[in-house]
Amino acid sequence: MSQDTRPPRPAQAPTIPTTPAGCPYARAREALERARRRTALLTDAVGEDELTAQHSPLMSPLVWDLAHIANQEDIWLLRAAGGGPGLRPDLDPVYDAFRTPRADRPALPMLAPEAARAFAAEVRVRALAVLAEAESGTRRNGADAADPDAERHRRLLADGFVFGMIAQHEQQHDETMLATHQLRRGAPVLDAPAPPGGSAAGLPAEVLVPEGPFVMGAEGEPWALDNERPAHTVLTGAFWLDTTPVTNAAYRRFVEDGGYEEERWWDPEGWEYARHAGLRAPLFWQRDGGPAEAPGGGWVRRRFGHTEPVPDEEPVQHVSWYEADAYARWAGRRLPTEAEWEKAARHDPATGRSLRHPWGDADPGPEHANLGQRHLRPAPAGAYPEGAAPCGARQLLGDVWEWTASDFTGYPGFAAFPYREYSEVFFGPGHKVLRGGSFGTDRVACRGTFRNWDLPVRRQIFAGFRTARTARPGEGR
Ligand code: AVJ
Ligand code: FE
Repeated sequence: MSQDTRPPRPAQAPTIPTTPAGCPYARAREALERARRRTALLTDAVGEDELTAQHSPLMSPLVWDLAHIANQEDIWLLRAAGGGPGLRPDLDPVYDAFRTPRADRPALPMLAPEAARAFAAEVRVRALAVLAEAESGTRRNGADAADPDAERHRRLLADGFVFGMIAQHEQQHDETMLATHQLRRGAPVLDAPAPPGGSAAGLPAEVLVPEGPFVMGAEGEPWALDNERPAHTVLTGAFWLDTTPVTNAAYRRFVEDGGYEEERWWDPEGWEYARHAGLRAPLFWQRDGGPAEAPGGGWVRRRFGHTEPVPDEEPVQHVSWYEADAYARWAGRRLPTEAEWEKAARHDPATGRSLRHPWGDADPGPEHANLGQRHLRPAPAGAYPEGAAPCGARQLLGDVWEWTASDFTGYPGFAAFPYREYSEVFFGPGHKVLRGGSFGTDRVACRGTFRNWDLPVRRQIFAGFRTARTARPGEGR
């Protein structure tokens, strides 16, 4: 707690952020089409054999993701929104992620690549017809407000929510497919320009977020998913947060200091896991035998088929929650809680309200954040000055997902919508929250309130972290 003697600032009434501009149906069509262009790019980049291959026991074959994307669109846009019988309800069991764990998916009677492509294309033609009907008002929404099915249908279509949900779903699988590309062996097949430069050299190492309340969670954000709601006021103490994500150079110091061999830095379960899995460095890092003064400090990494020295100033990636947690302890710090992360990213002390994004309410543009697979790597720490949050922190959105200290749980008053299997079944201590999105996250699936989660052992995702510390008395003013 701060020793500040001034009267506490009154908790501000939550104000409703500006709703994204433009017609929701036009936005939905654009988001669906952008997602499909990316899905095509990721699946056309490799041959048939590689589409059906399982590149890692951790991941599905790419062709499974492709048809699963189409199956979800069949379920939610053709059936739930459109009210029709759907194109291939017989495929539901094959593409139900819950019925078959990833490792067992190659054994399923999956559609072959050409059939999967044709299925996805035909679902899309029909889904766009449902969208056009909803847009023109020929589809009557929730005519009978007393009918629970009608009310559910009205909510699904309101502001184009279900179309936005399906665009987000496809983009989330596109990011998963990008992670599969990162795991595959062989020559490079993806290409993208380098991200903008930047340097953290002139920036303070950490920024202060003062004690006080802020509004956490989404309101007035029509495509926010169930786990982002309801908005609620959270009080945090004063804390310091790293201005940028932890870099490879900083993480290398932990590695070279014997961080992986010292039990005292590790969560007991993390220590067991790190021993058992033989962890010594982030996934994809390898010693190249070169001198410590050489670029990469004697480490190289494989990236989408290329091998290169580990870049010092780039945010570290492919570390599990346990590694992030151990690093933070070694550094005399801790991971930020999810609430601290969101407060740093959204709270505007000038107005007391929570912004949609760190830079404000404007949709993410290329000047704000490294999103959408525009680049195939994170930008160096200190890049994207125009994306800075009011507290001064940079790169909170884009570049790398950031592990937080928090378990994935429902906010007070959480209600699953439209299906429990999106979020609710993952609530509990088994999953840790990640925030902010990576270079492989599309802007439709990324905002100040967006919540991602994963197992604390997960390493193949594009995740890094930044650290925090509780402010000492007197610091938080
Ligand atoms: C929110 C990224 C954890 O990929 O497992 C995709 C998203 N849910 N299909 C996942 C999701 C259903 C989910 N994550
Ligand atoms: Fe899915």
